[in-house]
Amino acid sequence: MTKEEFKNLCEIAIQSKNFSLSMYSNFRVGAAVLTKSGKIFSGTNIENPSYSLTICAERVALFKAISEGENQIYAIAISTDKKKFLPPCGACRQVIFDLAINSEIILINSEKKTKKLNSKKLLPFAFGKEHLK
Ligand code: THU
Repeated sequence: MTKEEFKNLCEIAIQSKNFSLSMYSNFRVGAAVLTKSGKIFSGTNIENPSYSLTICAERVALFKAISEGENQIYAIAISTDKKKFLPPCGACRQVIFDLAINSEIILINSEKKTKKLNSKKLLPFAFGKEHLK
């Protein structure tokens, strides 16, 4: 990933929070996925009055990319309005394990500081496609 791509990806993750539907938690999350073809797909959290139907920003961005034919995810940037870096939720870790295991994960805090995570270490003893065999 070039410096330019990194900057662009982070900025799109930050901007995506503007579309967040987070009226119940007041916790905005923005995500952006960079694919091998160089395209960026954004996502934000979308909450629902039937709370459990809420979907996280990371999964929105990943599913948008996959549903448009992208099959190699290069990086995922995730932004919140908090100073503490966001640990992606368990459901998103499962999806990242399945769809983006070789990707770089970049967390962005409210001060625009960034922290990189190793996607392979996110979900130890993970359930994957090989367990269905
Ligand atoms: N959320 C995300 O979008 N990503 C995560 O990894 C953790 C949680 C959202 C879901 C919900 O809308 C709000 O943050 C509070 O849990």
